Amino acid sequence: MLNQQLETAMKKWLEAMIESNGNFVLAVVGGKGGLGKTTFSYNFLWLLVKYNIPAVLVDCDNGQNSSAEFAADRKAANILPEMPVIAMPTEQLSKALPKLAKEFRVIIIEFGKTDNAESAKRALELAIKLADKIVMPLQPTAPDVKTIPSAEENLIRLNSTVPAFIVPNRVKKESQLNVIYGVRSFLKCFKVTKTYLGDRLCYQDSLGFDGRSIFELNGTEPKKAQHEFIQLFEEILND
Ligand SMILES: Nc1ncnc2c1ncn2[C@@H]1O[C@H](COP(=O)(O)OP(=O)(O)OP(=O)(O)O)[C@@H](O)[C@H]1O
Ligand SMILES: [Mg+2]
Repeated sequence: MLNQQLETAMKKWLEAMIESNGNFVLAVVGGKGGLGKTTFSYNFLWLLVKYNIPAVLVDCDNGQNSSAEFAADRKAANILPEMPVIAMPTEQLSKALPKLAKEFRVIIIEFGKTDNAESAKRALELAIKLADKIVMPLQPTAPDVKTIPSAEENLIRLNSTVPAFIVPNRVKKESQLNVIYGVRSFLKCFKVTKTYLGDRLCYQDSLGFDGRSIFELNGTEPKKAQHEFIQLFEEILND
């Protein structure tokens, strides 16, 4: 169903990871609500699980835990494979990670939205400490773009060397990207991914009912979504 090229790339990537006896930890961050963190994390997890990579999504969106709920809905609807999602308070992350790393090769940490500057800083601090890569989905709108400078400042202040990506999400037309591209030249830590995700109803239809990923939907729009998501997945893994 998915492309051969991805399968080959994925196997190579996994073999290298096994050889180095390591894990890969991806932190999905974003201070605001509704950026696409859950949509991104859940579909990313699905791709890994699909390719038999031992992966888990740690849902630290305290108070909401949408990913954990989607996984539970999926289980209740008897859809296989099961999505390994664990809900956990952010404060328990550091302690829990070594144990999870023994069981899973890939760990996706989905951070929750932050209420104030201090909690945003703490979340990024944790992301830098624990993750190999950081992803921040962002819509091409002024309120979302306005969150970039403080995230960037925090990464600089914390001397982060962890590769960090801004993923443009819910893009209706390419010209909208200019609002994100406009700040690109100021960025020292974040890199904007070349691939962006379109604004497509199927992203909403998918998770909402029974925890299905976009890869389990049929039709033209889901096909486009699958295509762009695989491209994004490859870009983030290979960059
Ligand atoms: N590319 C997209 N196209 C259309 N709708 C999208 C897209 N990405 C996300 N959405 C929708 O936008 C809403 C917010 O997305 P999501 O729940 O993934 O964001 P979030 O950052 O996890 O938000 P929260 O902080 O509330 O947990 C959801 O209804 C989701 O279905
Ligand atoms: Mg969420």
